[in-house]
Amino acid sequence: MLSSIAKAVATSAARSIRNVHASAAVSSDVLQVHRDYAENNLDTPFEWTAENLDRANAIMSIYPDGHKRAAVIPLLDLAQRQVGGWLPMTAMHAVASLLQMPRMRVYEVATFYTMFMRNPVGKYHLQVCTTTPCWLRGSDDVMNTIKTKLGIKVGETTKDGLFTLSEVECLGACVNAPMVQINDDFYEDLTIADTEEILDSLATGKATKAGPRSGRYAAEPLGGLTSLTSPPTGPGYMVRDDL
Ligand code: FES
Repeated sequence: MLSSIAKAVATSAARSIRNVHASAAVSSDVLQVHRDYAENNLDTPFEWTAENLDRANAIMSIYPDGHKRAAVIPLLDLAQRQVGGWLPMTAMHAVASLLQMPRMRVYEVATFYTMFMRNPVGKYHLQVCTTTPCWLRGSDDVMNTIKTKLGIKVGETTKDGLFTLSEVECLGACVNAPMVQINDDFYEDLTIADTEEILDSLATGKATKAGPRSGRYAAEPLGGLTSLTSPPTGPGYMVRDDL
């Protein structure tokens, strides 16, 4: 009897042991915990510009009374643009006060969506997609070119404050892989030479072409159309004569 109890206890203990995984835990490269520092604390100045306040009111007017807080994402985006690409605590507080919602609710949104940056970024925010289609098409080359040329790692900003490098998941331009988002623009079908040229142009303030770099207009096949190559058939095609 005793031995059967001991066996049952041993089995239940074995069941409660967590599995051991050989792969590394996947975690975000951004620490979403606020610690005051020189550029980001409760005294960091943030005041809506008159122009942005008008914009914010126009955005809020889209939403019915009682649901104004649904504007939290566009308002956070507006605040982030005003600051220059990131959201200090005080900007989040300004959004909370405009929407009359608890600050914690604003923190929750700002820390959930990766498009909101909680720390200062450079003038150009390089977001390199390394998800499978981009990876298969050479995102490692693009990433390594940026790292080598700028001398920074993922999550870092160049000393001149021009570039910040981030690694991101699929940005929805897989058919033009590999690609990088720089501020609001997509740069697609990239090679190492394209990547170098883009960085050189941005560093020297020259205009550089966004979009596909392969000569494609958009996402059409590189070797010409493979479907819809003839005029479409008219109504009644393949339908019985007596109908
Ligand atoms: S995998 Fe890179 S854009 Fe989709």
